[in-house]
Amino acid sequence: MKILLAGSGGREHAIADKLSQNKNITKIYCVPGNGGTASIPVCENIKLDTIEKIAGFAEEKGVDISIAGSEEFLVRGIADQFDRRGLKFFGPKSQAAVLEGSKAYAKAFMKKYGIRTAASETFTDSGEACAYLEKINTYPLVVKADGLAFGKGVVICPNEKSAKLTVREMIDGGAFGGAGKTVLIEQYLEGKEASVLSFCDGRTILPLLSAKDHKRAFDGDKGDNTGGMGAICPNPYVTEEVYQDFLENIAAPTLKGIQAEGLDFTGVIFFGLMITKGGIYLLEYNVRMGDPETQAVLPLMKSDLLALIESALNKNLADFKLEWRRGHSICVTVASGGYPRSYKKGFAISGLEKVQKYFIAGADFNARGEIVTTGGRVLNIAAVAENAEAAYKKVYKDVAGVHFEGAFYRHDIGL
Ligand code: AMP
Ligand code: GLY
Repeated sequence: MKILLAGSGGREHAIADKLSQNKNITKIYCVPGNGGTASIPVCENIKLDTIEKIAGFAEEKGVDISIAGSEEFLVRGIADQFDRRGLKFFGPKSQAAVLEGSKAYAKAFMKKYGIRTAASETFTDSGEACAYLEKINTYPLVVKADGLAFGKGVVICPNEKSAKLTVREMIDGGAFGGAGKTVLIEQYLEGKEASVLSFCDGRTILPLLSAKDHKRAFDGDKGDNTGGMGAICPNPYVTEEVYQDFLENIAAPTLKGIQAEGLDFTGVIFFGLMITKGGIYLLEYNVRMGDPETQAVLPLMKSDLLALIESALNKNLADFKLEWRRGHSICVTVASGGYPRSYKKGFAISGLEKVQKYFIAGADFNARGEIVTTGGRVLNIAAVAENAEAAYKKVYKDVAGVHFEGAFYRHDIGL
């Protein structure tokens, strides 16, 4: 079997690593891949710059199944492009990917299908938005850019002044290249966050183990929001009661909505959740696996990932018996000094040979064959153990042995 995997982060390295355990897979084309996928014997990194070229390449090489790791491809219609050529693609069509591509669409969908979510209003005029802010006057509140903004389109505003400034920057100031032309002003929810990645075939939503991301740069949830500084699986706050609440008030009505709207959704639907005193709330949908959640979830998955993907493509998820290893999984991101603001690249990484399990996020081989940093999030060091304490000790022992200039990480992932 030949697979094509579009994307280049730690998530894609983890997906490629898991897929490569299936011996029926003879080739995984990683577009563009990174230094991690380059190290997997069955993988080949390929640079292609448009979704048309990616689909053309898959056709030419006789790829059996293609997958996209990141939302950008999906929102831009990569699944549609493959479908037009009669090629198998695991991921939603653009018309369904809008559940992530537009927060205003997603919010309207949640309201229409009775999915529990924060109260929110949508605006395209900054004057109207500011008048609304004066009227409601309850802070903090959340201002969100409608479109894709690389995880930076959500601002928690402590007061009216900052909320008005944020709204004006988004609507009038062209922040995030037009992604903020429409904004949502949303009720602030207090609680514990959870991520539930789920497979969907349009008939069934099959959730994976729950996970927890850590978005802030520094220990104790201090500092800037990042793409994710670490993840744990399972999420300790997702008790049986919370999980039942999720199934009933979030997952089931979401599936109903997907069906009622006629959305072509074969892929991963990711629920970004807030567990509050008043129950579980849906913050957002993503239409692909999470990064870095994937790097914590997949190491616990006993089932074969290709079999799971094929089951979704065959609309057979209802019969799939998902199996998990017992234990706890932790993934710690090691980042470049300065990230998520400006940072330097090109530093050689040492100590990786002693690490049991790692996923490369932003690093690649240079002309001399050394692995050097190429991004803000550089590495994900992962560990699985019987209990959370043992996983914590194991992962941080490995993290301490890896070095590059300016490296930093959080010390409290899974603590
Ligand atoms: P989103 O992209 O919608 O998941 O938002 C990114 C982050 O902003 C989430 O992971 C939360 O930490 C935070 N967030 C989003 N919406 C809310 C909300 N209504 N109340 C509190 N925090 C929120
Ligand atoms: N970890 C959150 C995301 O992948 O968007």
